[in-house]
Amino acid sequence: EKGGEPHFMRKEILEQPRALRDTLCGRVGLDGLPRLEELALGAGEARALEHVELIACGTSWHAGLVATRHLAELARLRASAEVASEYRYRPALPLGAEGGGKALVVAVSQSGETADTLAAMRAAAAGGARPVAVVNVVGSSIAREAEGVLYTRAGPEISVASTKAFSTQVATLFLLAAHLGRLRGTLSESGARELLAALGRVPDQLEAMLPEVAAQARALAPRLLDKRGALYLGRGYGFPLALEGALKLKEITYLHADGYPAGEMKHGPIALVGPQTLVVVVAPQDRLHAKTLSNLEEVKARDGFVVAIGTEGDRELARLADAVFWLPPAPEPLNPLLAAAPLQLLAYELSVALGRDVDQPRNLAKSVTVE
Ligand code: F6R
Repeated sequence: EKGGEPHFMRKEILEQPRALRDTLCGRVGLDGLPRLEELALGAGEARALEHVELIACGTSWHAGLVATRHLAELARLRASAEVASEYRYRPALPLGAEGGGKALVVAVSQSGETADTLAAMRAAAAGGARPVAVVNVVGSSIAREAEGVLYTRAGPEISVASTKAFSTQVATLFLLAAHLGRLRGTLSESGARELLAALGRVPDQLEAMLPEVAAQARALAPRLLDKRGALYLGRGYGFPLALEGALKLKEITYLHADGYPAGEMKHGPIALVGPQTLVVVVAPQDRLHAKTLSNLEEVKARDGFVVAIGTEGDRELARLADAVFWLPPAPEPLNPLLAAAPLQLLAYELSVALGRDVDQPRNLAKSVTVE
């Protein structure tokens, strides 16, 4: 059942190319443009939107944070991603036509059973929204109560630490942002075609890079056994990835890990950096690359051990980092889909090297059905 792998987590990480192909299947038309008829959202409705509110917990919240950037870039929509346990208890603000809020509320959940996410979605509905859901498990509570569902099609995820659920959520939400961008006229036909063609190449790119990344993570883990904690840094699309990488590490190694926007480093977390700190930096080639590199210089000056995730051919990054996981070149908004796997495999291999229970980490349950 683990497909010959020692753990479900490894199987599910390596399955991501297949999972992503399933996510995309039938959602890009022959004309190369997004097709999300399953959502039944008209152009008039899409144009009237003023903002998008994503609600989720844990890893799904991180996928929501990636989506806020996609929605701003592709659909020119202000978007927020809020942790469901906060959203459900904050003062209710009107969301529907009468309140004039014109918000699209999107619940994001692998299981579709997370108590806080379900309650937050109900709170949004009570406020007048017609929430839609991005869910993996078909027929789950959140899928049944939402006004529209986009299934992520990751297939069953058994490992407690979420992996393929995350990348398929990011891909599904990316399609939603592209779809809204087309309906709102903020994303040109040629722009959409270019992005979706690049998205279509991601599963093959991942398939090509995974063996090397897995081998590299395995070789790296023994060098990290003396680390007391980890700081994950990234900017833009890299910041939610930093949060996700840190969460994976915490869950399955029990090491303390923090995710930070790289620009916040000077405002506190740099005090943590020393030889026993692992610093993981998500630094693919993007608009903010030079700024991230300068943060990295500061980490090196303090003897932090740096593991970087970067774009092939980046000599400057290779010079600054102790180890680099290389990603193939891709348009900036697609980097999260490529950067997730190295973060997952790094946490996985360190967990194995530390002798932890990878698939069933202490104190955690796969699905949190009580608040
Ligand atoms: C992290 C993890 C949890 C879940 C969270 C939400 O690896 O598994 O943080 O992401 O409990 O679960 P869903 O997506 O089922 O609502």
